[in-house]
Amino acid sequence: MRIDIITVLPELLRSPFEASILKRAIEKGLVEVHLHNLRDYSLGNYNQVDDYQFGGGAGMVLMIEPIDKCITDLQVERDYDEIIYMTPDGQTLNQGMANQLSLKGNIIILCGHYKGVDQRVRDKFITKEISIGDYVLSGGELAAAVLSDAIIRLLPGVLNDETSALTDTFQDNLLAPPVYTRPRDYKGMEVPEVLLSGNFPEIEKWREEQAISRTKERRPDLLE
Ligand code: ADE
Repeated sequence: MRIDIITVLPELLRSPFEASILKRAIEKGLVEVHLHNLRDYSLGNYNQVDDYQFGGGAGMVLMIEPIDKCITDLQVERDYDEIIYMTPDGQTLNQGMANQLSLKGNIIILCGHYKGVDQRVRDKFITKEISIGDYVLSGGELAAAVLSDAIIRLLPGVLNDETSALTDTFQDNLLAPPVYTRPRDYKGMEVPEVLLSGNFPEIEKWREEQAISRTKERRPDLLE
């Protein structure tokens, strides 16, 4: 899989891909992530990528020309399955969307900034608009990092058995059950006996019950 991220702040997006699981996925060649600085596609001498909005109002708007140039350059090299715009008024990200996107070959993620992008960018290029939740970030970069992480960890070979995505919270519309590690007794707080029993059918049954009761209590909407 290949992810191309278009942004005015590439430095904000470097570190998530330089540590831990995402770094290893890139090193193993399971995914390529390319950051593109929109300013490299700017017009004129001032590296301009944004301008005032027509009709007046506070806040700058990302212009269509640099974005058009960048996307068109990328499309000359390869076809893209999705061109995604990160925006608080998009469809709210969930596990099902991450699962679907993890099956794609090449995707572009465009990060908004300031007041957003010229509507014509959305009309002409964007195939999917995604929000990571009902709150406003100062730009789409952190949202793009969240989306990329949710996708990349699902790619075959990225996680090993221990960290398998199959047992994740949400993967079966259930929250994950509680987990424990050593010591067995910490200041009188004990690990549930069943987990120490070695009886794996019983352990599985306990985990399932815990997952269901946790989901009923915390996220009944998932069971509807
Ligand atoms: N840009 C600003 N806020 C955002 C959000 N909640 N989701 C995606 N992109 C955003």
